[in-house]
Amino acid sequence: MDLFDDLPLPTDVAYASLAPGAVLLRAFACEADATLLQALNGIVAQAPLRHMQTPGGYTMSVATSSCGRLGWVSDARGYRYAARDPQSGQPWPLMPDCFTQLAQRAATEAGYAGFAPEACLINQYAPGAKLSLHQDRDELDLSAPIVSVSLGLPAVFQFGGLQRSDRPQRHRLLHGDVVVWGGPSRLAFHGVLPLADGEHALLGRRRINLTFRRVGESPART
Ligand code: SIN
Ligand code: FE2
Repeated sequence: MDLFDDLPLPTDVAYASLAPGAVLLRAFACEADATLLQALNGIVAQAPLRHMQTPGGYTMSVATSSCGRLGWVSDARGYRYAARDPQSGQPWPLMPDCFTQLAQRAATEAGYAGFAPEACLINQYAPGAKLSLHQDRDELDLSAPIVSVSLGLPAVFQFGGLQRSDRPQRHRLLHGDVVVWGGPSRLAFHGVLPLADGEHALLGRRRINLTFRRVGESPART
């Protein structure tokens, strides 16, 4: 029996193809939302959400934290994965089983069986917060997909091509939607437009995004 048989996930999944190798699983995380949010509260109590500095000296409008063996960090030295939270000096909180299971099942639904995430980046958007077009390329193992879970207020997700100049398509992501991109789309440019204000029944005036990554390296213990 698999350890995670308890997590409620849909058996009938509504798919939309965004690009070759990129799939949107509508409402895939909805039934598990209360379980996920409870686990999330435990994580951010240990490793609070904070606004990191970009290497260029800007403060990110999105507040971030991480869980898992590695966490994503940004500062004047650049973007990288680190085994410890630079704010506390402690290892990042463990990845909860419900997170791992959701990410694995979503990856499998999207055609990427065997996904074993090492890092989960938690992004919190308040109204107005955005994420400019970028590639997720701080990972060594580009054979694994990115699994991205949306919770709370709706957002407009931009999903483009392999060149920054490729015109991105816009997709409205709602609470519970999961996007998985890998293979030919692994290095696709993507971003989030400034979050519109609103009120979500479970999360209030915010959106949370969980992105699961396989990093594929053992960085120096920082
Ligand atoms: C990200 O690119 O890391 C986050 C995307 C999102 O918030 O949907
Ligand atoms: Fe990203």
